[in-house]
Amino acid sequence: MSEPFVIAVDGPAASGKGTIAHRLGEAYDMPVLDSGLLYRAVGVLAARKGIDFDAVAEVTAVARALTADVLGDPAFRTREAGEAASRVAIHTPVRLALREMQQAFARRPGGAVIDGRDIGTVIAPEAPAKLYVTAAPEVRAGRRWKQLKVQGEAVTFEEILDDIRKRDARDGGRADSPMRPADDAVLLDTSEMTIEQATDAARRIVEAARARWERS
Ligand code: C5P
Repeated sequence: MSEPFVIAVDGPAASGKGTIAHRLGEAYDMPVLDSGLLYRAVGVLAARKGIDFDAVAEVTAVARALTADVLGDPAFRTREAGEAASRVAIHTPVRLALREMQQAFARRPGGAVIDGRDIGTVIAPEAPAKLYVTAAPEVRAGRRWKQLKVQGEAVTFEEILDDIRKRDARDGGRADSPMRPADDAVLLDTSEMTIEQATDAARRIVEAARARWERS
């Protein structure tokens, strides 16, 4: 039990990983970090300053200056913010700039839940519990569409499906792509599951990992 009990919840956009991460945090009374929010914040803050998403040095400066106190801004939860996030996330220096904040969170003595793309592979490769949550693109698009409608965004299902496909290609299209399950991650396909079923399945995976971690 030398390592803190970190639960890494990775997966593509709208796979259900955020909801699962929050429910695991509640169940185990552990803090939760939504790492996508960091990339969303960098994208939105860069755009507000008129910085081009491909101006790597300037976007990296925004990432270096990012602090946790600004993360509550609802503008980071929009569809546009998700697009901006995936545009800035392709730059390695931006990813490096955000790494320390995430790793400091992972080092908390009481453990942590972190959701994202590269938590189990890059941020916390020693995490005792790793899940890779996925679902068919159409299912993910349907979930994201409902969520955005509740937030009041006027957008069609087809537009969201198109976003999801483009985002998958952008997030997973390079050799150093972060969108890859860790070799020791447990895959959880939530396509046919309600969120309750998915959370129960995630808890069973975490319970097994916790038992192994307690014995170590
Ligand atoms: O998960 P969420 O939709 O908030 O993530 C927005 C975008 O941020 C992703 O499409 C991805 O490009 C990027 N991201 C990343 N690495 C993470 C989390 C998010 O590259 N750990």
